[in-house]
Amino acid sequence: MSSGSAAADVAVVRVEVEQAYDVNVGSGLLHSLLPEVVSQSQVALISDETVMAAHGHGVVEALTAAGKSVLPLVVPPGEASKSLVRYGALLEALAGASLPRDAAVVALGGGVVGDLAGFVAASYLRGVAFYQAPTSLLAMVDASVGGKTGLDLPQGKNLVGAFWQPRAVVADVNALRTLPAHEFRQGTVEAFKHGLLAAPDLLAALGPSWAPDAPSGRLAAVVARNVAIKAAVVAADEREAGVRTHLNLGHTLAHALETVSGHSLAHGDAVAYGLVYAAIVGRRRGYADLVGRTLEFLRWVAPRPLPRADFASLLAFMGRDKKVAAGRLRMVLLEDVGQPVVVADLTSDELAAAWAELEGIA
Ligand code: GLY
Repeated sequence: MSSGSAAADVAVVRVEVEQAYDVNVGSGLLHSLLPEVVSQSQVALISDETVMAAHGHGVVEALTAAGKSVLPLVVPPGEASKSLVRYGALLEALAGASLPRDAAVVALGGGVVGDLAGFVAASYLRGVAFYQAPTSLLAMVDASVGGKTGLDLPQGKNLVGAFWQPRAVVADVNALRTLPAHEFRQGTVEAFKHGLLAAPDLLAALGPSWAPDAPSGRLAAVVARNVAIKAAVVAADEREAGVRTHLNLGHTLAHALETVSGHSLAHGDAVAYGLVYAAIVGRRRGYADLVGRTLEFLRWVAPRPLPRADFASLLAFMGRDKKVAAGRLRMVLLEDVGQPVVVADLTSDELAAAWAELEGIA
């Protein structure tokens, strides 16, 4: 990680994929650095209604002041916007405005906006330049880095998509100041997951004083640390043929819970349950006992209640997960903190027993 971009106090993490790019983390970057890094003169700015009202108008002004022609496109907030219908409407808006191939799509918002706008960028005119300007903690520490884009289908989450790396990511930690506490905790779940996978020091940094009103330097340091962890994994395995699978810790159950709840359970909440579930499955296999630690974290997250789904429907959704290979469900577990392992010999009895245990304690 290094400092020294045009704006002061910017932490820069390089993501060394085939077309390497920088993730810039700091304060006030939406107005200072973003217009500098977007080199194209025509820009489609995709955001949601909430983020547009809070930050979008200032960003449009800054991009316009830098000489760009900006087409703002706004979708409703929430997972329901990651739909084929919304995606089609955005493509038609770009085509209707005759946006050319040398234009850029900029995603301004959280993970939903980034996934949706990224897939628009990946597919419009067979692919145009893409930039991520994440405004939620979840998008800063996870979704905006690594090039995964996608949409949901009624059959499951993220079942349509493409790898489409951004040209740059600009994470302005000032945007975190206005995040509701519950949303801030959603992002903290992915940071906690990174800590469990690779960085026990990060777990300590996510203590009681970790909140949206923490000093900017601390917010930026924790975001940059997470980005560095994720960037290393993505650089080693851009297309998820190997170690990138580890980032799915907690996500096998989480995606199923999100789908059965009709997406009323937020992603971070679902992953927080998924981390406890993975710990239960792991303990039952004789791995380190991380149930207490993940459960304590789950209580701090204070998620919406666990959906009372029957196990057969959950298993059906888990079976449709992208991590299924050769008909076998694969799940990431932890032999211990910092020691992820992918297991492919899970039985449905084992998974059902762990679900029953989770229902009993969550
Ligand atoms: N969020 C998991 C990944 O980007 O691979």
